[in-house]
Amino acid sequence: MTILKTTKELNSWFIENSNGLAKNVGFVPTMGALHSGHGTLIERASKECDSVVVSVFVNPTQFNETTDFQSYPRTLEGDMLLAKDAGATVVFAPSPEDIYGLNVHAERVDYGPVTSTFEGRSRPGHFDGVISVVDKLFVAVKPQKAYFGSKDLQQVAVVERMSRERHPQIQIVSCDLIRDENGLALSSRNARLSSHGIALAQHISSELQASVSRVKKGLETAKSVEMAQYNLEKLGGLDLEYIGGVDKKTFAKSSADRGWTHIVVAARVEGVRLIDNIEL
Ligand code: PAJ
Repeated sequence: MTILKTTKELNSWFIENSNGLAKNVGFVPTMGALHSGHGTLIERASKECDSVVVSVFVNPTQFNETTDFQSYPRTLEGDMLLAKDAGATVVFAPSPEDIYGLNVHAERVDYGPVTSTFEGRSRPGHFDGVISVVDKLFVAVKPQKAYFGSKDLQQVAVVERMSRERHPQIQIVSCDLIRDENGLALSSRNARLSSHGIALAQHISSELQASVSRVKKGLETAKSVEMAQYNLEKLGGLDLEYIGGVDKKTFAKSSADRGWTHIVVAARVEGVRLIDNIEL
């Protein structure tokens, strides 16, 4: 596995490998602090492509809170080991200047509900930053396929839209959400939780599971989501930001009978923002 720290080095790698590895590239964009959720994306890419480029870049333009950006875990040494074990060919770890030049800034993008509801509403500017960096990384990496986790369900919809418009030749692959043995969705931010915080955070996924079970037993979906909302709101130490039903493609506000495919949720525990979702 090779580590490359600039787009210039990446371009040279492409030229050197143009008749081999670089012909069929799978790309896994990440912000590092890799865990086995990221690992499954890399493993899948390495099964489906000749080579896998994993980017490790804590993207400054997608953080709407400076403290979150500053405290985001940075663990490049460990990331390289995990990426290598999972089958990465290249780890690309550029600097903000290399990606953005002197103007570390994201243009405003409005794709309607998919960028303005739920995560778009709770984190103003977040999707502008995601769109900007993924677009720039797609230009630098030139992959055939790019892999994204359905843990960030709305991000997948936003990237699909951006890619359809700007990079129609790249296939976006959506991968399963990976959880720990207690159901908690794996996240780099979980490292900032105490054991008490982890126990509290587990209520998020257990309430999602319970919602789906109630629906399977015949309860109306909207009622079931309301019950989960009530249960999460009454938990001390957990601040619910939103919970609601969505169509994973449009994220438009709609009612359950107009095609909810998932329940999405965001909450804060010990100041750490956590998101999760479940298929209906
Ligand atoms: P990051 O949070 O590091 O996640 C990188 C990729 O791993 C994303 O596609 C995310 O959905 C996926 N992922 C994270 N946790 C997962 C889990 N528990 N199960 C399955 N997949 C999981 O998402 C980003 O970085 C950034 O926004 C990025 C796309 C890299 C742009 O900066």
